Amino acid sequence: MAFTTHHLIQWKQQKRPIVVLTAWDWAIAKIIDQAGVDVVLVGDSLAMVALGYANTLPLTLEETLHHTKAVVRGVKQALVVADLPFLSYQESISQAIHSAGLLLKEGGAAAVKLEGGHPAMIETVAKLTAIGIPVMGHLGLTPQSIHQLGYRQQGKTIEAQAQILQQAIALQEAGAFSLVLEHIPSELALQISQKLTIPTIGIGAGKHCDGQVLVTADLLGLTEKMPPFAKAYTNLQQLITQAVEDYSQEVRLGKFPE
Ligand code: KIV
Repeated sequence: MAFTTHHLIQWKQQKRPIVVLTAWDWAIAKIIDQAGVDVVLVGDSLAMVALGYANTLPLTLEETLHHTKAVVRGVKQALVVADLPFLSYQESISQAIHSAGLLLKEGGAAAVKLEGGHPAMIETVAKLTAIGIPVMGHLGLTPQSIHQLGYRQQGKTIEAQAQILQQAIALQEAGAFSLVLEHIPSELALQISQKLTIPTIGIGAGKHCDGQVLVTADLLGLTEKMPPFAKAYTNLQQLITQAVEDYSQEVRLGKFPE
């Protein structure tokens, strides 16, 4: 059975923590889905972890679509959410409908994620959800605004906290089914999580969110520079290097093939 956005809302009510990981291709998606994650996010972090861009801004809708199709082919159970890339939804509501529609229609995603909570974005979320496109919001540190925000923690002042809380409520009222909270103080994430009926998914937002998300490349130890709030559960870079060195040596010594 494939999970739906309704499962996420139910899990919040049941206080069952929601497990979210990113994926960028078929192989990773298949492994993390079989390992039992609840949501697979085709995050625009794929720009850095799979395509070698310096940040998420250069990623195109076509590239996202290509990777979403691969991820969807690998997933049987988890809810697949595709990130709308920078400037594929901010120009107009009709651009957002076109881009989100493509990721659902052609890509096979079950929902899209977009960043920000200013009034124009709330209108966009209301329109997308009204026509049947589930939307996950994203507040706090929104990497598509890196040139305004840097990678600094957000919500440090009382005013900034009030604004994030107000935007979170507005996103819920506009119909978002869940909300990523990135790099904000834990107490603010707690306050938002208690206020909303939709689940919050934290990354660098402490332990009080209804779920957690990590970039899978960070979890696997594949990234050179990890954000301070990420955690590597293994060191795949070391394991791959060792395997490649062992193979090279065996080929050079005539030990492989036997
Ligand atoms: O692109 C991404 O991987 C994300 C997560 C960090 C939430 O947006």
